[in-house]
Amino acid sequence: VSGPVSPLDDRRRSVDQYEDVWRGVLEIVVRVLETGERDLSRVVRLVEAEWRGLSVEPVAGMSFGEIVTLPSAALFGGRRDLLMRLLADACTPRTELVVELGSGCGMNLLNLHLWGGPQVAYWGLEPTASGRECTRRLVELAPDLDLHTRAFDYEAPRYDLPTADNDHVLVFTAHSIEQVTEVPAEVITGLFGLGRSLTGLHFEPIGWQMPGRTSSPAPREYAVRQRYNRNLWPLLSELATAGEIAIDTVVPDLFGDKAKNPSTLVVWHR
Ligand SMILES: C[S@@+](CC[C@H](N)C(=O)[O-])C[C@H]1O[C@@H](n2cnc3c(N)ncnc32)[C@H](O)[C@@H]1O
Repeated sequence: VSGPVSPLDDRRRSVDQYEDVWRGVLEIVVRVLETGERDLSRVVRLVEAEWRGLSVEPVAGMSFGEIVTLPSAALFGGRRDLLMRLLADACTPRTELVVELGSGCGMNLLNLHLWGGPQVAYWGLEPTASGRECTRRLVELAPDLDLHTRAFDYEAPRYDLPTADNDHVLVFTAHSIEQVTEVPAEVITGLFGLGRSLTGLHFEPIGWQMPGRTSSPAPREYAVRQRYNRNLWPLLSELATAGEIAIDTVVPDLFGDKAKNPSTLVVWHR
């Protein structure tokens, strides 16, 4: 019997699907570790290359709203380097905690560490057990890395991390809010207690949510078809209007390794 799809069905489907995705990545991690490789940087690069099938094959991505065709390895690497630069720039000497919401297998946090990110506590909040296990297996290779994971759900966000009284906290999301059609306001407002000051950075496909955007219709059509998030930009705008946050940077459709699903950058602070 088919009927209307409830938000709960959507959430289960997304989490179940990613449980399988990260289980597949975990298998690659285990295989690479079985070769005796123990250097975090080499392991992460070897896993990434196999998982993503990186090659010279031409792929259509997006940059500043325009279609760009690049070798798949260059598109993927460019996107990763861009995100790392943005995250490293969002940290300050006062940063004491970095949190990723929907952290998947932990690659972004591990890469930030490898890219010269601050030596502070990192937390990956992620619903899938396989994603958290993947992160744990990789973190074991870096005894100097203070990275932990915890179960998390955007539908019922909890931010009671065992780290309080932080001077500055960076919280970021990369294509994880996309998975939830409507996130509750507490996803953002619940973060406010994490530190005395806070930077939020989103790398999410929400350019089409911004009024007046006249770029290609493909990202909107794709987001609607996938039942991807549709309320992050309205939510951030409302909080900014209410004086709860200040929005510093907005770059719609900045970059995407899939032309139909480009990441828009939004940076805010409180
Ligand atoms: C496209 S992946 C991105 C993972 C990671 N941010 C990255 O850039 O590699 C989407 C992530 O969102 C997570 N996700 C799906 N539904 C979620 C929910 N209801 N709450 C929190 N995270 C969710 C998935 O488990 C998955 O790890």
